[in-house]
Amino acid sequence: MTATIERGAATAPVPPPTRAPKKPGGFMGSSNGKKAVMAVTGAVMVIFLVAHMLGNLKIFFGRDSFNEYAHALRTLLEPIAPYRTVLTLLEIGLVISLVLHMWAAISLARRAGKARPVKYVAKKSQAGGYTTHIMRFGGLTILLFLIWHLLDLTFGVVNPKGFDSAPADRMIAGFDASRWWVTLLYVVAVAMVGLHLRHGIWSAFQTLGWANRGRYRALRATSGLVSAVLVIGFLAPPLAIMFGVVK
Ligand code: HEM
Repeated sequence: MTATIERGAATAPVPPPTRAPKKPGGFMGSSNGKKAVMAVTGAVMVIFLVAHMLGNLKIFFGRDSFNEYAHALRTLLEPIAPYRTVLTLLEIGLVISLVLHMWAAISLARRAGKARPVKYVAKKSQAGGYTTHIMRFGGLTILLFLIWHLLDLTFGVVNPKGFDSAPADRMIAGFDASRWWVTLLYVVAVAMVGLHLRHGIWSAFQTLGWANRGRYRALRATSGLVSAVLVIGFLAPPLAIMFGVVK
């Protein structure tokens, strides 16, 4: 005699599909949102850097030319807007961009760390490789440089000419040959800025979805070219002053 075993239905009832729970924070809380924040704020800072680099080159046309430019920045839209209003608004925009850029970078880095808590044996991944190190370490170096830079050329605290001096005098005294180490500091910092920008601009192109096969090489070359022009343009004044070309 054979016993029969009651097995029940062959297929278990399938529960109705549930929607994936929405992540808190909406678009800005998502990785894509944070990458977009990095791209937009990065673009704002690149525009500032191009303008800043071009402005610095005025030192090659003499102290007066540079001082006039520095004065023009402070008197933009005068008399409609009081002294330094537009410049202050631009500075606020720059600080907001910097803070948002750092916030997005840190939270993306944290997310990458959580997604891969166990380190790769062979470091082939983006999260943990050379580029990541150069971006994180480079970003921090640029931030430290910026503090020194503002104390030096904007507030004159660490500048031989002090605060009560003309911008061109601060610049020329700041990069005097006797302070070669200051120029060296700028060379290192600006090289970091260049590496940071080369990768940053390229990442922004990818975030925007532009870096497809047809444009890959052209956009990679553009990232490199923009960074190289900025590095050369930024380093020309300090080196020219240190070597006595600009007095
Ligand atoms: C290496 C060459 C550079 C030189 C010779 C230079 C020169 C100057 C000078 C003279 C000022 C004061 C302007 C004024 O008082 O009107 C200044 C301000 C400033 N620089 Fe530079 N700079 C250089 C590179 C950079 C880099 C690489 C950055 C950013 C990563 C930067 C960011 C700034 C900022 C944020 C200010 C303050 C702007 C403001 O508040 O209006 N600079 N720089």
